[in-house]
Amino acid sequence: MVKICCIGAGYVGGPTMAVIALKCPKIEVVVVDISVPRINAWNSDQLPIYEPGLEDVVKQCRGKNLFFSTDVEKHVAEADIVFVSVNTPTKTRGLGAGKAADLTYWESAARMIADVSKSDKIVVEKSTVPVKTAEAIEKILTHNSKGINFQILSNPEFLAEGTAIKDLFNPDRVLIGGRETPGGLKAVKALKDVYAHWVPDDRILTTNLWSAELSKLAANAFLAQRISSVNAMSALCEATGADVSQVSYAVGTDTRIGPKFLNASVGFGGSCFQKDILNLVYICECNGLPEVAEYWKQVIKINDYQKNRFVNRVVASMFNTVANKKVAILGFAFKKDTGDTRETPAIDVCKGLLGDKARLSIYDPQVTEDQIQRDLTMKKFDWDHPLHLQPMSPTTVKQVGIVWDAYEATKDAHAVCILTEWDEFKTLDFQKIYNNMQKPAFIFDGRNIVNPAKLREIGFIVYSIGKPLDAWLKDMPAVA
Ligand code: NAI
Repeated sequence: MVKICCIGAGYVGGPTMAVIALKCPKIEVVVVDISVPRINAWNSDQLPIYEPGLEDVVKQCRGKNLFFSTDVEKHVAEADIVFVSVNTPTKTRGLGAGKAADLTYWESAARMIADVSKSDKIVVEKSTVPVKTAEAIEKILTHNSKGINFQILSNPEFLAEGTAIKDLFNPDRVLIGGRETPGGLKAVKALKDVYAHWVPDDRILTTNLWSAELSKLAANAFLAQRISSVNAMSALCEATGADVSQVSYAVGTDTRIGPKFLNASVGFGGSCFQKDILNLVYICECNGLPEVAEYWKQVIKINDYQKNRFVNRVVASMFNTVANKKVAILGFAFKKDTGDTRETPAIDVCKGLLGDKARLSIYDPQVTEDQIQRDLTMKKFDWDHPLHLQPMSPTTVKQVGIVWDAYEATKDAHAVCILTEWDEFKTLDFQKIYNNMQKPAFIFDGRNIVNPAKLREIGFIVYSIGKPLDAWLKDMPAVA
């Protein structure tokens, strides 16, 4: 029986391994992590992450050929294939701080693999890493190998949170990069055989190591760039009276461009886009390509601009001050159908409003009070470290209340900001919400999910990103 061990039981390690176990009943899959609470949660009825369809998959194979354990060394030692799916945060100190990937967790995993291995292994990079990381990992493993043969493969993960299980069942492609040596090709074939249990042959792409590593960074940069492009257009739409939904529809019908990922919003978030683009920028700079670095940097700058612009709209519309006004925040996760808040635009928007002394009442169907308080107090990039290394939330932000109902959040509020596109927000009783709010009642829709005309009929002053402006907002400056 082939044995797989995955180091890192997070958003990637958990779902990917659960799907491999489900699709390959003859393979034993063990997911290991240094975080005891995380592993305990994977072994309980309350999984540590919310992902549609995940619970069903885990329940079908947990205890049969899928196991979660903190006994990292034992399971690594026994495995034929070791996936490494640990955090690769942005460095906060030293060389490359604020840009380069921090490979501390990766390196310690590699050293541990070298230490405990007694048999040949295929080591698979599942985490997103800078191009050429495999070379560094290879050096660590071969210099400590005691004669054991290690083959390094790059197999970056393309799943999107919120649709992870769907994406894993039916991936656009699986990418496997390896050395073009007999040993490397054999390892690629072994990993290909795992995916071949359910992924059609023409969707399993094999490349050299560096192409696979770089393709992941490039794919995330292209995706984020589409969002920044449409968000940049949204600002111009507001200034000219064009409607960004109509513009993006017209643009997206061109088959060369395509319709997906063209929704204007308050900005992109999630653990990957910003981190991976910063990493790409750093790699370009290190390779003497400042123009290329500058080009990709703009994608992040526009994203920051869009979040600031949103905050400025809110404050400017409400007579240039939100001090002591109650602002309801609907949605805190970085997108719908996940409880993940890493780099969510809600953090910057909330911090911006708190900076103007607003009182916030936040409701998100999947995010806990503790998580929101952590996010609003944590330093930039601290979130991307294993949980037990993250600072506990030492202080709570007093002007923030977290409630478990959208109606409670909006009661007596001066304004509502919609920051996540949860389906349940589309069907709220806005008449009821309006009746219970202070007047004039404002709605700032950061995800374009409400019908502005209908809300205006009720009496709301409405701001929708990139849409023709409410008369109230026309003379209000959006940019500080
Ligand atoms: P995560 O933070 O949810 O999970 C990483 C896990 O690794 C944590 O539970 C941590 O405790 C564990 N860990 C760290 N060092 C360890 C060690 N030495 N031994 C054992 N466990 C260790 O991170 P996530 O979101 O799963 O991401 C992992 C990697 O996958 C990152 O490189 C990320 O960029 C990449 N990725 C993430 C995607 C996403 O949607 N979250 C999608 C595609 C790639």
